[in-house]
Amino acid sequence: MFRGQGRCALFAAGVVAAAVAWPAFASRADPDEGAQVERGGEFYALHCAACHGARLEGQPDWRRRKPDGRLPAPPHDETGHTWHHPDAILFAITRDGFAAHAPDGYETDMPGFGDALSDNDIRAVLAFIKSHWPEHIRARRRAAAVRMEKEPRQ
Ligand code: HEC
Repeated sequence: MFRGQGRCALFAAGVVAAAVAWPAFASRADPDEGAQVERGGEFYALHCAACHGARLEGQPDWRRRKPDGRLPAPPHDETGHTWHHPDAILFAITRDGFAAHAPDGYETDMPGFGDALSDNDIRAVLAFIKSHWPEHIRARRRAAAVRMEKEPRQ
């Protein structure tokens, strides 16, 4: 989404960004909605923290591929690249897993949670993650969302 922020596995993997409807999810994972964030925190601890870190710090040396060729789990705080992507992409990756949105044969440790979490549960997790981002990042995302709604989808 934002250029010049370093390499991003999501785009390096060729994720099909246009396939998901962004505006539909834009307002539903709300980092200022206390109850949603709290519920999301519980799901995060249960389902995400083991890989992405209890403090959203990601796995050590997360930019370097492991010996098996797969990428470690990136941080979800502002030091990672999760915030570069619109909500709809984050939602789709979490629901379906990374491989479902990558080219055939892409190997990844990021599972899908569509069976374990409802759509609303996933939005709650994303609200929790987003609640860790500082205001200047949230402002950039709001601006990007407005641009995306104005631009025709390809
Ligand atoms: C078994 C380990 C594991 C668990 C558990 C896990 N993830 Fe991941 N996740 C990964 C890995 C590894 C990647 C990087 C995938 C790649 O690039 O191949 C990733 C990537 C992602 C991305 C894409 C980030 C980006 O900027 O590219 C999102 C979003 C994400 N995970 C969300 C979640 C959420 C939400 C949960 C909990 C519901 C979760 N993950 C649980 C391992 C995990």
